[in-house]
Amino acid sequence: MAKLWGGRFQKSAEAWVDEFGASIGFDQQLVMEDIEGSVAHVTMLGETGILPAEDVTKILDGLAQLKVKAEADELEFSVANEDIHLNLEKMLIDLIGPVGGKLHTGRSRNDQVATDMHLFLKKRVPEVIGLIENFQKTIVTQAEQHVETIAPGYTHLQRAQPVSFAHHLMVYFWQLQRDKERFTESMKRIDILPLGAGAMAGTTFPIDRLKSAELLGFADVYANSMDAVSDRDFIVEFLSNSALLMTHLSRFAEEIIIWSTDEFKFIELDDAFSTGSSIMPQKKNPDMAELIRGKTGRAFGNLVGLLTVLKGTPLTYNKDMQEDKEGMFDTMETVLGSLKIFEGMVRTMTVNTARLHGAVHSDFSNATELADYLATKGMPFREAHEVTGKLVYTCIQKGIYLLDLPLEEMKKESELLEEDIYDVLAPEAAVRRRNSLGGTGFEQVKIQLQKAKELL
Ligand code: ARG
Repeated sequence: MAKLWGGRFQKSAEAWVDEFGASIGFDQQLVMEDIEGSVAHVTMLGETGILPAEDVTKILDGLAQLKVKAEADELEFSVANEDIHLNLEKMLIDLIGPVGGKLHTGRSRNDQVATDMHLFLKKRVPEVIGLIENFQKTIVTQAEQHVETIAPGYTHLQRAQPVSFAHHLMVYFWQLQRDKERFTESMKRIDILPLGAGAMAGTTFPIDRLKSAELLGFADVYANSMDAVSDRDFIVEFLSNSALLMTHLSRFAEEIIIWSTDEFKFIELDDAFSTGSSIMPQKKNPDMAELIRGKTGRAFGNLVGLLTVLKGTPLTYNKDMQEDKEGMFDTMETVLGSLKIFEGMVRTMTVNTARLHGAVHSDFSNATELADYLATKGMPFREAHEVTGKLVYTCIQKGIYLLDLPLEEMKKESELLEEDIYDVLAPEAAVRRRNSLGGTGFEQVKIQLQKAKELL
């Protein structure tokens, strides 16, 4: 089949060579963006008088027909036409005749493809932001039910200090808040239009780039035509923001998985978000959480992949850049899917409050309370730490916890210890008293939740 760019060629590439160079297999996902960009471009060509009105009308009519077919999934793409741009242009010409060939006036596939990518992210990054926010709301709803649920807080995955379970859950709210801010901020750079840059140097036609920007709803146009066709930073940024978002989801997933074990049993996932084993009838596996943790790998891979593609490319457009697409599509699908699943998983999970209660009553995570108690009574903290450590050791020898240790045993280490130490050692008190700004004290957690709700 004759190529749209075939004029200077004496022979055609063989089909298998074409196949290697073609992107239609994946860039057909940009069909709507490509049509939208063409509609704006040809409208602008009409308004500036570059094309006569009757040609513009015919082209717009043809594009409208293609759009209807695209929506009905009726377009038949061919590898011989390489990519989405040439496929659509060829279809347009087949549909309305040679006048369709006027669409590409003052335009190149280089500014066209960059435009499509900007349009793609301009439409979908807000979807990501919306899903993040939805998930944040679910986290707040769960947290509000567990302000006074005491849970072990960990460092080194060793029991550290008791905390409000809401305080723990809300960490993920704040991580997502930063993700949301990053995606929102990145919109500023997505919202710049490359169209009109031509192949790279601009065009001799008296085009109106601002008109195209207005028609497509872009806030600005690239100031440098060479930058416009060679920039893929906005995609790298999307992949980078996504990689960090997935890191957060993966950390949360890891906790969900640990909490679901028989060893922890802090939560139970809903059946609707769990799977069984084909051999072990008792199993209920947190597959969705594991899958999100696993999919984080591809999000990282897509980021590193594009950075690597770009690092050696001279200005301006190089075919290497065709490799920007699959990773972006894949990361978009991964992020949207993971956010939806995670939200459902957290919304429907059951928190095992009895188990959490039991956990904080059978550990040494209240040891800091004892040291703080002694320090409050004037003992240097370092000494208080030592005394407490000895009492912990005594308990371990006896197979009991600090709350079980009789006062006379305590007094052997320090006379400063009085009967009221038992109130101080109660895990609920330990949490309640951590009322420093941003701490886990119930009052602080309520303030935090209030602040979070204001942000939503
Ligand atoms: N399929 C190409 C891509 O995705 C479109 C731009 C091609 N431009 C060119 N001069 N070959 O990058």
